[in-house]
Amino acid sequence: MAANILDRFKENTEEKVIDTSKKVRVGIIGTGWIADAHMASYLKQPDVEIVAGADLVEGKAEAFFKKHGVEAKCYGSHKEMLDDESLKLDAVSVCTYNRTHAECAIYALKKGVNVMLEKPMCVTIEEAAEIIKAEKESGKVLSIGFQPRLDENMKMIKKIVDSGVLGKIYYIQTGGGRRRGIPTPFGTTFIEDKTAGLGALGDIGCYSLDMVLNAIGYPKPLTVSGYKSNFFGIRPDYYPTHPEYADKFEVDDFAAAFVRLEGDIILDFRIAWAMNMDTPGDTIILGTEGGLRIPSTECWNGTVGGPMKLYHEVCGQQTETEIPIIKTSESLFDLKIRSFLDAVKNGTPAPVPSSQIIYNQAILDGIFKSAEAGHEIEITIPEF
Ligand SMILES: NC(=O)c1ccc[n+]([C@@H]2O[C@H](COP(=O)([O-])OP(=O)(O)OC[C@H]3O[C@@H](n4cnc5c(N)ncnc54)[C@H](O)[C@@H]3O)[C@@H](O)[C@H]2O)c1
Repeated sequence: MAANILDRFKENTEEKVIDTSKKVRVGIIGTGWIADAHMASYLKQPDVEIVAGADLVEGKAEAFFKKHGVEAKCYGSHKEMLDDESLKLDAVSVCTYNRTHAECAIYALKKGVNVMLEKPMCVTIEEAAEIIKAEKESGKVLSIGFQPRLDENMKMIKKIVDSGVLGKIYYIQTGGGRRRGIPTPFGTTFIEDKTAGLGALGDIGCYSLDMVLNAIGYPKPLTVSGYKSNFFGIRPDYYPTHPEYADKFEVDDFAAAFVRLEGDIILDFRIAWAMNMDTPGDTIILGTEGGLRIPSTECWNGTVGGPMKLYHEVCGQQTETEIPIIKTSESLFDLKIRSFLDAVKNGTPAPVPSSQIIYNQAILDGIFKSAEAGHEIEITIPEF
C-alpha cells in the first residue's frame, strides 16, 4: 500500500521511440575482440542493418559474421569495403588495433561515411589532427569510443565539478592500474609496436584522462614530463603459456606524468598494466572549496570503483559526504552505440567529440615523446 502511494511521486519515464523507417547501413572494420561488443549492441538496435565487415586476416570477417548469425558482405581491408559503393554505407565502426585507427577513420570520412572510432583515438597527435581535418571536410559524425563516460557515476563527477562545490580546481591525481593485466588473451596485437603503438598508456591511460578531463571541461594541456617503462612485459615468465610473447613486447606497461593544464591546473598521472601493487591510488580532485575522492577499480577499466567521497566544510566543520554508487541496468556499450546512431540520424554533435579527445591524445603523445626525450616538453596541438 505504502509503495503504491510512493509510486505517485515517481517521474514519468517515457520510453524512447526510435524511427525505424530508414535503417542505418553499418559496416564493421576489424572483426577482433571488441567488434563482438559493437555487433551485440548494433543487433539490439531496431534501426540498423549490418551490411558488411572487413578484416586483414583471411576468413576472419566471414567467421565473425557466421558466429553472430548475420549475413553480410566480407572484405579483406577497410579500403576494399569502403570502395564498394554498392553497399551504400551510412556508418562504420572502426574496431581495428590502434595503429590503423587513423587510416581507417580518415578513409571512411573521405568517403562520406560516419565513424564510430574505438579508443584511443589513434597513436600520435599528428594522426589525430589528420582525422579531425577529414572529419571537418566531410561534415560527418565522428565519435570516439569512450563508453565509461556514459556511466551515471561518471556523469556525477562532472555534475559535482559543474556545481561549483569544489571551488577552483588546482590539482588532480588520476590513473589506475592492474597488478597483472597485460591484455594478451587474444594474441599480441596490444603489445607489438606495429599494431598497438602505445601500451597501457593508450589502452587504459586514455580512460583515466577522460574521467577527469571530461569533468573539468577538457582544458588545453600545456607541458608534460613523462615516464614509461616495460619491466613486466619483456619477462618470459610473465606469460607461463606463451613465453615467446616477451620478445614481442614493444610498448609501455607502466607510465607516469606530470602535466600542466590551462587554468593553472596540475595533473598527476600514472597507469599500469602490471606492477607490484594493487592500485596506484584513487583519483582525487582538489579544489579551493572541496575535494573529491573517486575510488579506483582493482582491474582498472576507467570506471568509478565505489562510493565517491566529497570532502568539504559545512558551517566551519570539516565534513565528508559519501556519494552512493548509482546502479543502472543499461549497458554502457549499448548507450555508446545508440548515442552515435542518434547523432548520425539527427545530424547532432558526436557524443564523444574529437574536439575534446584531441587533448586526451595530445597528453598520451606528450607523455610518450617526453619519456623518449628524458625531459619535460611543451605540448603543441597541430593545426587542423
Ligand atoms: N571500448 C572498449 O571497451 C574497448 C575494449 C577493448 C578494445 N578496445 C579498442 O578496440 C581496438 C581493437 O581491439 P581488439 O581487442 O578488438 O583488437 P584485435 O587485435 O582483437 O582486433 C583488431 C582487428 O582489426 C583488424 N584490422 C587491423 N587493421 C585493419 C584494416 N585496415 N582493415 C580491416 N581490418 C583491420 C585486425 O586484423 C584484427 O583482426 C583497440 O584500439 C582497442 O583499444 C576498446
